[in-house]
Amino acid sequence: MTTQRATKMVEGQAAWLNAVERTSAGLKGAARSIANSLGATVPLEEHEPIYPPAPSFSDLHIYASVKKANSVRAMFGLKNPFNRVHEGRLGATTMSEGREFINFASYDYLGLNQEPAVAEAAKAAIDRYGTSVSASRLVAGERPIHRALERALADFYDTEDCIVYVSGHATNVSTVGILMEQDDLIVYDELMHNSGIVGGKLSRATMKSFAHNNLEALEKVLKENRGKHKNCLILIEGLYSMDGDFPDLPRVIELKKKYGAWLMCDEAHSLGVLGKTGRGVGEHFGVNFRDVDIWMGTLSKTLGTCGGYICGNHGLIDLLRHHSPGYVYSVGLSPPLTAGSLAALELLKAEPQRVKKLQENGQLFLEEARKAGLDVLTSAGYSVVPVIVGCPVRAVRLTESLMEDGINALPIIFPAVPMKAARLRFFITSRHTPEQIRHTVKLTAQKLTTIAKKQSMLERAALAVAAPRD
Ligand SMILES: Cc1ncc(COP(=O)(O)O)c(C=O)c1O
Repeated sequence: MTTQRATKMVEGQAAWLNAVERTSAGLKGAARSIANSLGATVPLEEHEPIYPPAPSFSDLHIYASVKKANSVRAMFGLKNPFNRVHEGRLGATTMSEGREFINFASYDYLGLNQEPAVAEAAKAAIDRYGTSVSASRLVAGERPIHRALERALADFYDTEDCIVYVSGHATNVSTVGILMEQDDLIVYDELMHNSGIVGGKLSRATMKSFAHNNLEALEKVLKENRGKHKNCLILIEGLYSMDGDFPDLPRVIELKKKYGAWLMCDEAHSLGVLGKTGRGVGEHFGVNFRDVDIWMGTLSKTLGTCGGYICGNHGLIDLLRHHSPGYVYSVGLSPPLTAGSLAALELLKAEPQRVKKLQENGQLFLEEARKAGLDVLTSAGYSVVPVIVGCPVRAVRLTESLMEDGINALPIIFPAVPMKAARLRFFITSRHTPEQIRHTVKLTAQKLTTIAKKQSMLERAALAVAAPRD
């Protein structure tokens, strides 16, 4: 058939279809007017379903837990311990509602958020580059301080390159989310931070957890599952944010090599904390930093600003610069945060005595707490020491009671930790004094005993009802 004939045929068919459509519309219209004249109604389009209005957000099932928390607090006469307003910078002490408190609720581990040099660097960056870079770095370009910070972090971790993001949380979500794919496997410590897990879910890879810091359990998962998947990523933290302990990194490296997996280590609470000069869990164990494929960290803890980073080889960082959604489709790290982080990193390198002081303070807190009979789980006594309380109502009560005596330490309750593992989490910094630490531990132990004795039948019942959901 010639092209001309084929075109003619198609045109003919299109004209015929149009005619049919017009006729059928005409017939439908005629039927509707006959029906109307006889007093009957005909639905306009029978195949279009009618939808109810969108529900109110407060009727969503996830809002139920918000209502429940409010009613439990009301039932036990407790105030909301979260989102408290502080009138200044949080350090070893803080001012809130006009009162001074000894503070254990913020992670400025080396006191760098208190340092004039960090604030000055941030202010100078605002004067020169403004408060924002005003678009993604791909579009609005880089400022010299971006590359300077990335180079400094890459050198600190003895890796080839680094990429910084506007948020620590987004760093994990974007990196894990883009690197892993549907036929891959992610094996993660059960206490891994939410951001790594959200990234894993986004990737659609198969996810398997192993019992906290139990490397036999890790090997079992790898042995049973590694062969079924294309690529494999092991996700751990350098120092766990809830329990304050750390993994046996050399053994994890052996396993990752044996099973042909990548290893990603989140250094959020380990940078500036572990190792003689604060280079984290890698320095603590004296491993070759290049044996860890992905070093992740946040700028929001030790470095006193806000944002996150990934350090690794050129291939990894190049891939993230081109594909990672939190980098490509998000604004570049703002000038004051970039310059502030760089100044803080320089101070960390120049003054390792801060790291030593933090480590001494952490050990002192741990020893005192153990002597006082407090349950500190497996905390290694560095930046994070939990004090287990058990019942969430009791944990909130303990926070309230400590506040009455000038101590700010916040509860961690379900769903952040299992229902019966409610605790107060103490963040230790290099700026705390031994007196502040001893006083706080002593008071915590005293108050916990008093609160436990006073625990009402109602509280015991509430915990028993809640317990099966652990
Ligand atoms: C282990 C860990 N990773 C990642 C993050 C997220 O970091 P950011 O709060 O800086 O977004 C946190 C936050 O506390 C964390 O504890």
